[in-house]
Amino acid sequence: MSIANGARILVVDDEGPLLTALVTALESMDYEVIGELKQSDGLARILSWDPDAAIFDLNMPGMNGVELAEKALEIMPDLPVVLLTGFGTIDSAVQAMRAGAYDYLTKPFDLNIVDLTLQKALDYHQQKRRFRLLSEAMGRVRELEGIVGKSPAIKKVLDSVQAVANTDSTVLITGESGTGKEVIANAVHTAGARREKPFITVDCATIPDTLIESELFGHAKGSFTGAHKDRAGHIEAAADGTVFLDEIGEIPLGMQKKLLRFLEEKTFVRVGETRRRVSQVRIVAATNRNLAEEVQAGRFREDLYYRLKVIEICIPPLRERAEDVPLLVEWYLARLNRKLNRKISGVSPSAMKLLCNYQWPGNVRELVNFLEQVMTFHNPEVLDVKHLPNSLQTLSGALPTQTFFELKEQVLGEVGRSYFQALLNHFQGNVTKVADYAGINRRHIHRLLHTWDIDPSSFRNN
Ligand SMILES: Nc1ncnc2c1ncn2[C@@H]1O[C@H](COP(=O)(O)OP(=O)(O)OP(=O)(O)O)[C@@H](O)[C@H]1O
Ligand SMILES: [Mg+2]
Repeated sequence: MSIANGARILVVDDEGPLLTALVTALESMDYEVIGELKQSDGLARILSWDPDAAIFDLNMPGMNGVELAEKALEIMPDLPVVLLTGFGTIDSAVQAMRAGAYDYLTKPFDLNIVDLTLQKALDYHQQKRRFRLLSEAMGRVRELEGIVGKSPAIKKVLDSVQAVANTDSTVLITGESGTGKEVIANAVHTAGARREKPFITVDCATIPDTLIESELFGHAKGSFTGAHKDRAGHIEAAADGTVFLDEIGEIPLGMQKKLLRFLEEKTFVRVGETRRRVSQVRIVAATNRNLAEEVQAGRFREDLYYRLKVIEICIPPLRERAEDVPLLVEWYLARLNRKLNRKISGVSPSAMKLLCNYQWPGNVRELVNFLEQVMTFHNPEVLDVKHLPNSLQTLSGALPTQTFFELKEQVLGEVGRSYFQALLNHFQGNVTKVADYAGINRRHIHRLLHTWDIDPSSFRNN
């Protein structure tokens, strides 16, 4: 059943009978509808009638649906445009999404799905508009708890979080490792009405392929070895909360098809059952893979990719928003002071400059780990250039590619041991050079080598 409330929908389709059928159907769902056969008349309606959403047929002589969408969005950038594509014209659908269309529907379509898509589009754009007005009125973006940053890039991310938080749309979060995808996924949940409901993280990378379906959708007793009783999956457990599918690029192809169906219909079947169950859960997914490349390589379904990326929040790497570095440093120093019971008062301007210029391949996570290590090993009053490892100033290609930062907490563990062995090997047992490269005090290295029973002189002739 529709909750159209008289939303205005503009339909442009050059085929008269189809246009009439769609207009009539939408009217019966309580939309206010105007149908146009000609593209130019459609554009004129956008100016004169101020529609809330538009549906354009893709294949029209002269100006096709994609070109029409581009023109429409020039006139009204907020207008959600849904394109109607023929069966099997996924390429054009791809093109449509690139042109800024909100979504596409493949013909022949189910009217319920048309309605659902329109509802989502209207909802999303209403939120976006409302939020823009609100933040304009407040003069700034409302801060979200625990997310630090003031760069235009991060503000745009937060803007999108606010815009989608109170919708049910699926959200795809992309970004390099350590950029804060999980933090943002959490924010999407907590900034919206679902905040009191469960938030369940499913790490697709760590669940074996054979189990992922039952983990998500549940199973019936006896449906496979080890299924001792009926069990609900995460989708059911989260009920009307959020399921966060982390590392979605890792799910096997067979499962991708089932997930696509779930996203489209919001129904699923427990493994070993036939009954379809309905779910109100919201899906937020994340990946640090380039899904477009995965699609090219045949490892990720193109239809699922486009279904997921209808709303994509892309978190830029830290090196592209260096103005966030001082804020992050300040925030984490205060937290680490409390956590480690230290009293570091700040960072010298020259050290801060280096921190801002560094590439941070591990992004925010690398920065946080770095600060924790400096405070643990040096405990300085003010963080200065001398506390920064050389790798932060010059990165030599001849050296081991792994830097000290990447070792994180494990520096004292097994990984640390082989790390220092590699460095000793490279610098032929010269502990001073190793210390310089790793950015750790020489005496500390000697102590470590001693605990590991490593004799630096044994590396001299290697
Ligand atoms: N904007 C931010 N403000 C404060 N802390 C942040 C921010 N972004 C990331 N962090 C912190 O950086 C660390 C990494 O964040 P998170 O785990 O969300 O990254 P990720 O993108 O999911 O990484 P991966 O791809 O490796 O899973 C966390 O400790 C998180 O709290
Ligand atoms: Mg993560």
